[in-house]
Amino acid sequence: MSKEHDSPQGGEKKRPLAYEAYQTLAEAYAACVATKPHNAYYDRPAVLSLVPEVTEKVILDAGCGPGVYTEWLITRGAKVIGLDASENMLAFAKARNHDRATFVQANLEEPMPCFRDQHFDGIVSALAITYVMNLQALFGEFNRILKNAGWIVFSTEHPFSAYQYFGIENYFATTPVSCEWRGFGTKVNMPSYFHSLGSIAAAITDNGFAIEKILEPQPTEEFKNADRQEYEKLMKFPGFICFKARKMGAGSLI
Ligand SMILES: C[S@@+](CC[C@H](N)C(=O)[O-])C[C@H]1O[C@@H](n2cnc3c(N)ncnc32)[C@H](O)[C@@H]1O
Repeated sequence: MSKEHDSPQGGEKKRPLAYEAYQTLAEAYAACVATKPHNAYYDRPAVLSLVPEVTEKVILDAGCGPGVYTEWLITRGAKVIGLDASENMLAFAKARNHDRATFVQANLEEPMPCFRDQHFDGIVSALAITYVMNLQALFGEFNRILKNAGWIVFSTEHPFSAYQYFGIENYFATTPVSCEWRGFGTKVNMPSYFHSLGSIAAAITDNGFAIEKILEPQPTEEFKNADRQEYEKLMKFPGFICFKARKMGAGSLI
């Protein structure tokens, strides 16, 4: 992996929206994420079901957190760069993966000059795009750093669920929201953005991708054993949504 990926962003930069929250939460998140039902038995099985063969592929784990996805990818022979805004999260990702992956501190809300054009075969981004206001810019960057026919697989809060949960007044407006997270044992106020389904889809398709699959996951059986009540709810109500999209080559008819 080239050295260019090791350098953090320089200069005075604006902190990412959820930076403080994830700095505070990192230790608890890293301790829980392998078995916490919403991650282990709901998000990850769904996201990973969409990931194609990764052996020898160069993959970006965008918003890698403590590096559980990174670990899954390198175990399957991928060369992985984990990106996250939080240095505390990156410390846990490095502790989990040692020198088997490269990690970079960067903000998904900004351009990523640390990456060459057309560098990656694929991008995995689990539960991270909700912290980015300008999804059009983000998917433009994803297009720039992906090879032709490269893919992106990502998950985020389901807009229907977020619309209801946050009592959103205008469904069509990208709206800053926040709530208190208690599920990791440490209370934090977690800010994010509400995005409509149409604005997520437009960010993908306006930026040179074709959507190959949309998955509205349901929890696995392990979730039922861990938290029966939440399992019953998520069997009838969409908490997360996952997309797989592919970069279209020049001249594509899609
Ligand atoms: C819910 S966690 C998901 C972590 C990991 N993908 C997983 O599923 O285990 C969201 C992650 O996105 C990171 N994040 C939030 N905003 C970000 C931004 N603007 N740029 C880069 N990373 C960001 C957080 O620091 C956190 O590690």
